[in-house]
Amino acid sequence: MMADMIHILCAFCFFSVSGWILEVCYRSYNAGRFINPGLLKGPYLILYGTGALLLVGAGWLLADSGIVVRAAVYLALMSGLELASGFLLRRLFRVRLWDYTDQRFNYKGSICPTFSAYWVAAAFAFELFLYPAYTRVLTAISADTVMILTTVVAWVMLADFTAVSVRRLVTISPGEREILRRRYEQIARPLLEDPDVARLSRYPHHLNKTRLEHADEVAYLSFLWASRLSLDVVAVVRGALLHDLFYYDWLTEGPRLHGLRHPRIALENARRVTDLSKKEEDIILKHMWPITVIPPRYPESLVVSSADTVCAVRDYLSLGDYDLPGKAGMVRLGLVPQRIRGYTDIVRRRIGSALRRR
Ligand SMILES: [Fe+2]
Ligand SMILES: [Fe+2]
Repeated sequence: MMADMIHILCAFCFFSVSGWILEVCYRSYNAGRFINPGLLKGPYLILYGTGALLLVGAGWLLADSGIVVRAAVYLALMSGLELASGFLLRRLFRVRLWDYTDQRFNYKGSICPTFSAYWVAAAFAFELFLYPAYTRVLTAISADTVMILTTVVAWVMLADFTAVSVRRLVTISPGEREILRRRYEQIARPLLEDPDVARLSRYPHHLNKTRLEHADEVAYLSFLWASRLSLDVVAVVRGALLHDLFYYDWLTEGPRLHGLRHPRIALENARRVTDLSKKEEDIILKHMWPITVIPPRYPESLVVSSADTVCAVRDYLSLGDYDLPGKAGMVRLGLVPQRIRGYTDIVRRRIGSALRRR
């Protein structure tokens, strides 16, 4: 089992590096200067490694199939991989690593018939020549050497991929931040100026924070994440601003099992404030998931639920400003005494509430 894993990983690393070399030669020759074709810093393209693994799997499954079936499967696999990778790269990292918009019959610039035909030819070349050559080389190297080399290269690739992904997902330039803040204010203002929402400023929510401040923070953080993920930012901001729309101090008043019941209360109050889309309703109703067992129907709901948790944890741990998502881990030690006072206050209010109920 372990040996199989190493062989799969080894093929992935080997063809990622080989793909990088192929692309460097092709692009640098066309441009007349050196071009690093990938998103990552190192000499590998994980798209090629992934494609190689797909072809190895398909070749194994289609060993007895004719050439037409194999060509059709290779076409579907290679085009699907190109389409999915292009979509994810544009959505998550806002980059376009290849662009077929100048090719005839292209789809969103990610795939086109000419290059799909090239990839099918490359898939047959892989099946007939490259993979057999690779396995011959592999058998000539000792198993220990293969394992050590594969482990090192895989860890370097993973570290590179993680570093680049995190940096691209959390980094916001000052200019972009200003644009995002203006967009957020444009969406949020009508609700923040609504008297029924503004009333939330009268209720304490987390340590030294009103419910309105909490809703605003959750909405802004959700908005930043949703922008990065190209989700529906309007629904995210509106749903997040209304997610805790209830009018009682949850530490001393309100229904039993407040944690389970307040999403429904907030939803009913929100319906009186504004017309809600199905997505906005789901965001409000599922914001305590997984405590409220039924899972969210939309990624936007998951974003708000996660941002709500991050904001709550941050408030109770007195973490630093998270205007940028990447700053969330900065602990402001100066706030520790204030935090302890806050916890004492919560315990006092809880005990007072329990005594009044008896
Ligand atoms: Fe809540
Ligand atoms: Fe909340």
